Amino acid sequence: MPTNKIITNSSQETKKAGMELAMAIKDGKTAAKYATVIAFEGDLGSGKTTFIQGLAAELGVKENVLSPTFVIQKDFSLSLENYKNFYHIDAYRLKNSEELLELGFSDLVKNPENIIVIEWADKIKNILPSNVININFENLGEDKRRLIINFKI
Ligand SMILES: Nc1ncnc2c1ncn2[C@@H]1O[C@H](COP(=O)(O)OP(=O)(O)OP(=O)(O)O)[C@@H](O)[C@H]1O
Ligand SMILES: [Mg+2]
Repeated sequence: MPTNKIITNSSQETKKAGMELAMAIKDGKTAAKYATVIAFEGDLGSGKTTFIQGLAAELGVKENVLSPTFVIQKDFSLSLENYKNFYHIDAYRLKNSEELLELGFSDLVKNPENIIVIEWADKIKNILPSNVININFENLGEDKRRLIINFKI
């Protein structure tokens, strides 16, 4: 399983890392059968939403992407050739995976035109698809963050 480690020294650098992942996803020529799912783990304030802001901007999302906090799931539309919907999920307040399944998660994952990002994904690990991209955030103090990206080819 390929692993990528990145150190960022500002929120701007973390946004840029998000933009770079978006470019890689857009350029992907695979005939995907399922949604592209990115699972984020890491402490409060470690930079998950910041990364997602860069990713969403590069995918063409015009709205400001905020921490969903009081909503579990927020939907945005995309006008890319291969991707039409962007879902930002925050699992922080979920009690278990069942709650996300009740919101229709299984159908979201079946649609290859969907890009789904999930903060606090460790809470719903048992329902994540096997081809998920995992990103773990660690706060190294002040503005320094370590991002570890794991994915299957
Ligand atoms: N290198 C960095 N990368 C990302 N954010 C940084 C960095 N340095 C400082 N920050 C600051 O850390 C905070 C990160 O907040 P963010 O909302 O992205 O975290 P989060 O992981 O989504 O938190 P939560 O678990 O509460 O959703 C922001 O205030 C941001 O400006
Ligand atoms: Mg967040």
